[in-house]
Amino acid sequence: MDITDLETPYALVDVERVEANTRRMLERLSALGVSLRPHVKTAKSLDVALLSCGGKPGPITVSTLKEAEQFAQAGFNDILYAVGATPNKLQHAIRLSQSGVDLKLVTDNVEGASAIAQASKEASVSLPTLIEIDCDGHRSGVKPDAASQLRAIAAALNSSTPLLAGVMTHAGDSYNCKSIVAIEAMAEKERSGIVQAATALRDGGFDCHIVSLGSTPTATYGKQFNGVTEVRAGVYVFHDLVMAGLSVCKESDIAFSVVATVIGHQPDKNWIIIDAGWMAMSRDRGTAKQAVDQGYGLVCDARGEPFDDLIVSDANQEHGIVSRRSGGLIDPHAFPVGTTLRVLPNHACATAAQFDSYQLVRGSTNIFGEWPRFRGW
Ligand SMILES: Cc1ncc(COP(=O)(O)O)c(C=O)c1O
Repeated sequence: MDITDLETPYALVDVERVEANTRRMLERLSALGVSLRPHVKTAKSLDVALLSCGGKPGPITVSTLKEAEQFAQAGFNDILYAVGATPNKLQHAIRLSQSGVDLKLVTDNVEGASAIAQASKEASVSLPTLIEIDCDGHRSGVKPDAASQLRAIAAALNSSTPLLAGVMTHAGDSYNCKSIVAIEAMAEKERSGIVQAATALRDGGFDCHIVSLGSTPTATYGKQFNGVTEVRAGVYVFHDLVMAGLSVCKESDIAFSVVATVIGHQPDKNWIIIDAGWMAMSRDRGTAKQAVDQGYGLVCDARGEPFDDLIVSDANQEHGIVSRRSGGLIDPHAFPVGTTLRVLPNHACATAAQFDSYQLVRGSTNIFGEWPRFRGW
């Protein structure tokens, strides 16, 4: 089957590129002597997760307990749920632990730590937990130098039985870096911050085995990971326009696109209209703050070759408006109604979440299979 044969819009994955992206990350981190705990939230696909782990189930990071559930059923046993655990999720976490999963939780406050310790005691189930560290001010976490706060959380976790498993951080601010040098500096800030937090805990008499950090930019450009036990990265499996805008990948590394069809034109406005609006592309405008704004996505031909400055400049629910970034002329005859196009996404995690499965190609337009994915919580 050819990519032009299917009803659009749909999600397309170039498996050759996923293989290359996952291999590159595994090789890079292995050469730097640190292990990878891929974040499986980008693709939410068992097939992609297996490639990320080098072919067989390994340690993974998840963003929902549903992911934990799905991946555990497929044989992934070492799972870090990397969003602060709340009391209303602890019974679910306990059920997963009781089923034999080595599930690790995350918290950045004494209330969360106490709730985990209490639930763990009541159920007689160990819920090992990492303290989240805020290495860059972008989101949640304890500041790396807040030693007494860290020790108070650790003490709450260990109140009945030792639950403190380590520390983790995510340099999400790396997405705002303006150069490779800035990403390298951010990677070092992420590393030194998490090591500082681990040291503060150890100096306070707490065991701190896991020292976990990562984002795709810092995993790609970090020069050394001394003192770190594992790196987490997620979006690198597919890459996207935000990563290309950061020079973390090339456009030709982007493995995921939305296949769309030309449904009409507005020649007076130099617009092509396609059947992929924000419902297919998502509302993510992650490149808006970068040097090159890619609108809702960069338009490519059916083989995946980008048209230089053709972007989805605006989007309604099911209509995408394609125009030149420069506002220049578009010859409607070059894109007749029915033409198949591929659109590269700003943020692969957000766009992939719009679909139930991926159609698969290997560097061509020939679809050879389909990978399911899941959604929800
Ligand atoms: C806690 C955590 N770890 C790791 C990652 C992976 O980052 P990236 O998608 O940049 O690879 C994320 C992404 O949001 C995250 O939230």
